[in-house]
Amino acid sequence: MTITEAGVFEATAFESAAQHAVAGNAVTAYRPVFTTGPAADLFSSYVVTTALSAAHELGLLDLLNAERVIAIGDMAGDKLDPGVVRGLLVALGWAGVVEVEGDKAVAGPRFDDVYAARGYYYWLVRGCGELFATAPDVAYRDRRVGEFFHRDMRAVAIGSRLIGDTEVEPLFDELLAGLGVATMADLGCGSGQRLLRVADRNPQARGIGVDIAQGAVTLARDSIAEAGMDERIRIVRGDVLNLPEDPGFADVDVITCVFMGHDFWPMQRCVDGLADLRRAFPNAKRLLLCDVVRTPGAPGPDTTIFTLGFELVHALMGVYIPSREEWLGAFRAAGWELVAEHPVTAPPSGILFELRPSVSPALAD
Ligand SMILES: C[S@@+](CC[C@H](N)C(=O)[O-])C[C@H]1O[C@@H](n2cnc3c(N)ncnc32)[C@H](O)[C@@H]1O
Repeated sequence: MTITEAGVFEATAFESAAQHAVAGNAVTAYRPVFTTGPAADLFSSYVVTTALSAAHELGLLDLLNAERVIAIGDMAGDKLDPGVVRGLLVALGWAGVVEVEGDKAVAGPRFDDVYAARGYYYWLVRGCGELFATAPDVAYRDRRVGEFFHRDMRAVAIGSRLIGDTEVEPLFDELLAGLGVATMADLGCGSGQRLLRVADRNPQARGIGVDIAQGAVTLARDSIAEAGMDERIRIVRGDVLNLPEDPGFADVDVITCVFMGHDFWPMQRCVDGLADLRRAFPNAKRLLLCDVVRTPGAPGPDTTIFTLGFELVHALMGVYIPSREEWLGAFRAAGWELVAEHPVTAPPSGILFELRPSVSPALAD
């Protein structure tokens, strides 16, 4: 135990909570050092992140973004419990996202940044929260068989869509406008939003989405039906690494694959899978593959949003995250030639690889 300049007794975290110290005539209660400061902030950050995820799903962040100042009762409406809504807002207040003033919620100084990043929190908490909570279970080698973890793939798809909105999707729009697209296949299509947007921007274009997860397939099909695009876009449930026979694949001239390329790995599996795409889509002139690559070195003060969560989640799932160089090796080995590389900052460490089938001796035989 030490006495600070202010004469306050501070105990180390190892001292007993029952300990008391006498300063002059006053008795100063034990004050563990972790109750405020960095250790306490970690705790509160977790709570804020869960509150952000919930507030996004409940539409509260969208409401605040539109209104900036809004009565908490109006936010709750007929369906939500006002005490829960207030509780979420108060938690967000800790981080300056919202200011709760009496019955009103006001967008706080951090609101705009956090709103722009909402997809990351939603992916983390709603999409992957159960996996983080059960991390000790999945750590045991003998339990890592079969379907040993669960993620909410609907939420993963929604989070991914939001994560891509800032930079990745405008880049796709630009590249696809330059290429011209007749039929696009989106592998690991998630919410189906890319297919929808491309069909919307290119009235002649058609699309096929492939996804392995029922949650994503249902979400994509619902969104396509709602947009009245069933005639032009269809979703196939299947494994991209073992594509089902589909006569429509022969029409595909552009293949896209966003935020799922790491699911092709390890290396040999990836090379085989990428080579198989050439056979499955014989008339594809481009493969546009965008993914987050492994970051070198240890995390530190400049570690970006998403990075720690993305890397830990994939370690828990046993999915290898390749580096940029490993990707380049896999493309070469699988018969895809790099046309251009487009790095993005959101998501951090993202790269959009623009590829075309190469006329390699091995594949030309
Ligand atoms: C992170 S999400 C990305 C969704 C979407 N591409 C986007 O950009 O928003 C990854 C998606 O890939 C799907 N996926 C993963 N492995 C797959 C596989 N082997 N075959 C088909 N889909 C797969 C998942 O179900 C999930 O919907």
